[in-house]
Amino acid sequence: MPDLVRIRHATLPALGRLAVHLFDLAAYEVLYRFSPVARKRFFNGGYLPLSPDLRHLPELAGEEASAMMYHLLLADLIADLHPDPSDILDVGCGQGGGLLYAHALFPKARLTGTDRNGTVTRKAARLLAPISGSRIVKGHGPRINLPDASADLVLSVGAPTYFGLPAYLAEAARCARPGAIIAFSAGYRQGDHTAIQAELRSAADAKGLVFHRYADITPHTFAALQADIPRRAAELARVPWPFRAYGWKWADMPGSAEYEEYRTGRRADFACILQRRHSPGG
Ligand SMILES: C[S@@+](CC[C@H](N)C(=O)[O-])C[C@H]1O[C@@H](n2cnc3c(N)ncnc32)[C@H](O)[C@@H]1O
Repeated sequence: MPDLVRIRHATLPALGRLAVHLFDLAAYEVLYRFSPVARKRFFNGGYLPLSPDLRHLPELAGEEASAMMYHLLLADLIADLHPDPSDILDVGCGQGGGLLYAHALFPKARLTGTDRNGTVTRKAARLLAPISGSRIVKGHGPRINLPDASADLVLSVGAPTYFGLPAYLAEAARCARPGAIIAFSAGYRQGDHTAIQAELRSAADAKGLVFHRYADITPHTFAALQADIPRRAAELARVPWPFRAYGWKWADMPGSAEYEEYRTGRRADFACILQRRHSPGG
C-alpha cells in the first residue's frame, strides 16, 4: 500500500502539517494493529514486473511485488556501484520485510532498522531476531534515531516523504559513512517529477552528495496496484465500517481520487540513488 503523506507537506500551513502528522501516527497505529496489514511483512504498494533475479523467500511469499521495491534499491538501481555493505540501515523499516530481504542479498552485513511506530518496531525485532547482529531502534521526532556515520547503505521505502525530502537527505547524509550509498523511494499525489528531482538535486548539493540516479517508477507501482485490486477488495470487504471507505481511498482503489491520479498521470512515484563522497574533496 502507498504512503499516507501523499500531497506535499510544503503546501500546507504549520497547523495543517501538525494535524496531518498526528493523523498519520494514529492511522498507522490502527493499520499496523487492527487491519489486514498486521499480518504482513511489508507496507508498500509494490513494483511490477518482478526482476528475474528477485529472491523468493518463504517468509515473504505472496508479497513479492513489495519485496521488489527493496530489490530495486538493493540490486537493480545500484548494481553499477558494486555495493558491498557492512552496515545496512532501513529508515521507516515497518514490519521488517525489507531488512529480511537485504539479509538474503548481503548475508554478512549487519542490519539496523528504525521506525517511529512501536507496534512495528516490536514486530520487526521478532522477525529479525534470528539474524545475529540485527537491531531495530524506535524512532521519534524529525531525526533518524542513530549516530552519525553508522551505515554504508542507507535505505528507505516510503518514509522520506514523512520527513520532507531535504530534511530526509540531511539526516540520511548524517547517518551515511564516507562512500555510503543512499537509496530511497517514495511518492506524491499530484506530483511533478521535474520539481521533485530539482528539490532532490538541490538538497543533495547542499549536503555534498553525489547524485547518481532518479527514476520515475510510477508505471511500475501502478502496474502493481492494478494487479493487486482483487486482493485489496477482498481484504477491504472484511474491514469494519466506518474504516472501510477510508481504507478504499488509502488503498488507491478504483473510484478513489487516488486511483484517478494514477490513471491520469498526476501521481509521481520515484526512486533515487545518491552517494556520500569518499572524502570531502572526492
Ligand atoms: C509506507 S510505510 C513503509 C514501510 C516499509 N518501508 C515497507 O516498505 O514495508 C512508511 C513507514 O515509515 C515510518 N515512518 C514515518 N515517519 C517516520 C520517521 N520520522 N522515522 C521513522 N519512521 C517513520 C512509518 O511508521 C511507516 O512504518
